[in-house]
Amino acid sequence: MHASKRVQPRLLIGQTLVFKSDPFNVSLEEATEHSSRGAILIDNSRIVAIGSPEVLAAMSPSAFRQDFGDALILPGFIDAHAHYPQTGIIASWGARLIDWLQEYTFPEEARFGDPDLAAEVANRYLDTVIANGTTTVCSFCTTHPESVVAFFEASLHRNMRVVAGKTCMDRNAPENLLDNARDSYGQSRRLLSDWHGKERLGYAITPRFAPTSSPEQLEALGSLWSEFPDCLMQTHICEQIEEIEWVRELFPSASDYLDVYESFGLLGAKGLYGHAIHLNMREAARLKEAGGALVHCPTSNVFIGSGLFDLADRKSEGHRVGLATDTGGGSSFSMLRTMAAAYEIGQLRGQALHPAQLLWIATQGNAEILGLEKQIGSLEAGKEADIVVLDLKSTAAIAQRADRANDIWEAVFPTIMMGDDRAVLSVWVNGGELVSRSRSN
Ligand code: GUN
Ligand code: ZN
Repeated sequence: MHASKRVQPRLLIGQTLVFKSDPFNVSLEEATEHSSRGAILIDNSRIVAIGSPEVLAAMSPSAFRQDFGDALILPGFIDAHAHYPQTGIIASWGARLIDWLQEYTFPEEARFGDPDLAAEVANRYLDTVIANGTTTVCSFCTTHPESVVAFFEASLHRNMRVVAGKTCMDRNAPENLLDNARDSYGQSRRLLSDWHGKERLGYAITPRFAPTSSPEQLEALGSLWSEFPDCLMQTHICEQIEEIEWVRELFPSASDYLDVYESFGLLGAKGLYGHAIHLNMREAARLKEAGGALVHCPTSNVFIGSGLFDLADRKSEGHRVGLATDTGGGSSFSMLRTMAAAYEIGQLRGQALHPAQLLWIATQGNAEILGLEKQIGSLEAGKEADIVVLDLKSTAAIAQRADRANDIWEAVFPTIMMGDDRAVLSVWVNGGELVSRSRSN
């Protein structure tokens, strides 16, 4: 990477929103602090202060000022579950989970043994998410170690904090995508020791899901996790009814889907369990007890027809919950669209999620489930400078609604519901500005 050279401190001025606490747990007033004319001071890769523009300018008179007017400065969005290799098959028509995997996903993933193809897609994917204001992702790769190397290299090139892992599967997928228990252990271990903790990169041990792993593979990966307990482990659980039925047939001695993971050492507080829509009572209680995080993937859950995850209830029960695109089962690369879908599913469940709750889970909440809350996810002195600046009037349709807003929540909600990459004015990764867009309206 580039030799680190000192750059002039930056003073970003705009509206700021800071979370002091989880707005699912405490009142809005206790959870949030909004300033209609705030600022953050960045020095090299870090946020060094947040406060009024005048006070911060006095602290650092040489800082370069960037005034975003009434745009909203937020921590960069975090996407807690994505499949970067599925970039090219996003929005594929007409299939539910198991058919969608067979028809679209597996043939596409089979191409990632080619390191050039993997690098091209990894770069295209990261450019796309950054343009949408996402500065950290936790991604599945494919079974090919090359796909993991390509993703980490592309992330390193952008100085991004990402988590990723080799997707392991040794059955129920096309031959050219399968590994085996021994190789999946060895390749994961090798990738982990090469990349975990390097710069801003983290490794997640990644069994795809119970149906595509033999008991031997799950056991090998459970044992790898016990050797490297500070690593995350990511997988899928209880996404569709047919999938749960399939797990019952494949693992007849397990009491339920979660029991498969638990019996092979794949349940823990550093576990990320994608979808988790149709958990039974035992599974929900056990996941909560173990501290495993449920990852809500709302655009995917409606797009593939999986079901309506109950975010508000799971949060009030005390679960750790994250929010994610699940690209390309999800139909978007954007965390704005993902928050909108979470809101819509909340409405169908009879729960109106507040914009503060949506923004919190897409930033601080996801940082917490990834164990990265000390580094990212909030606008706070000492945190890494991963930042997004949102134009809250990015289209005429959004502007005419935002113009009538009485407070920040009414001002930001039209952008959550109707905004896209045109709302993303500026994106900072590790103190460097990677996106700079002039206002379109
Ligand atoms: N379950 C197993 N693999 C996948 C995947 O790639 N996407 C989704 N949505 N669910 C899965
Ligand atoms: Zn997934």
